[in-house]
Amino acid sequence: MTKAPTPFVLWFTGLSGSGKSTLADKTADFLSVKEYDFERLDGDTLRGVFPSTGFSQAERDEHIQRVGFMSGLLEKHGVIVIASFISPYRQSRDFVRKRCRNFIEVYVKASLATCEARDVKGLYKKARAGQIREFTGIDDPYEDPTRPELVIDTDRESVEESMQRIMDSIQKFL
Ligand code: ADX
Repeated sequence: MTKAPTPFVLWFTGLSGSGKSTLADKTADFLSVKEYDFERLDGDTLRGVFPSTGFSQAERDEHIQRVGFMSGLLEKHGVIVIASFISPYRQSRDFVRKRCRNFIEVYVKASLATCEARDVKGLYKKARAGQIREFTGIDDPYEDPTRPELVIDTDRESVEESMQRIMDSIQKFL
């Protein structure tokens, strides 16, 4: 590492299957190669550690706000945070924004039709069949960000194009 970066929190929000984790992982790979001190936080990973976390609005809010609080602490101690969570509610995303100094909200925007067609984890199929309840986009809401720092349209952009725009948005901190 040549110089200490200004820490920041890069927060990917969007529907399941929109591409959040893919883009967050690629950003983390870049930071890793450059030997930056970062932490990668992801919804599925955290939920694997805390499997009792449910999907009601109250449970999602608490989950996101806890992660946001921790992200702010990590950032305060010089660690870059790369987070990917559906984080469907504006209020809890704004809570996270307030806990962080340099918060970059990345709205990974893909239509429900696209996410459902990808159905990487087979969860949309289960949600449509009624085997999973409170599934974001199907029978649970997703509130679009109103003032995200970045909008990534994975319906139209290639991964390379999206990554270039993400790199441009974090360059000033590195
Ligand atoms: S969040 O809404 O609380 O931010 P989070 O990002 O942690 O969600 O976890 C979402 C992941 O949980 C999805 O990618 C999917 O793999 C899984 N999942 C299981 N059930 C649901 C559900 N009802 N709604 C959304 N995601 C679900």
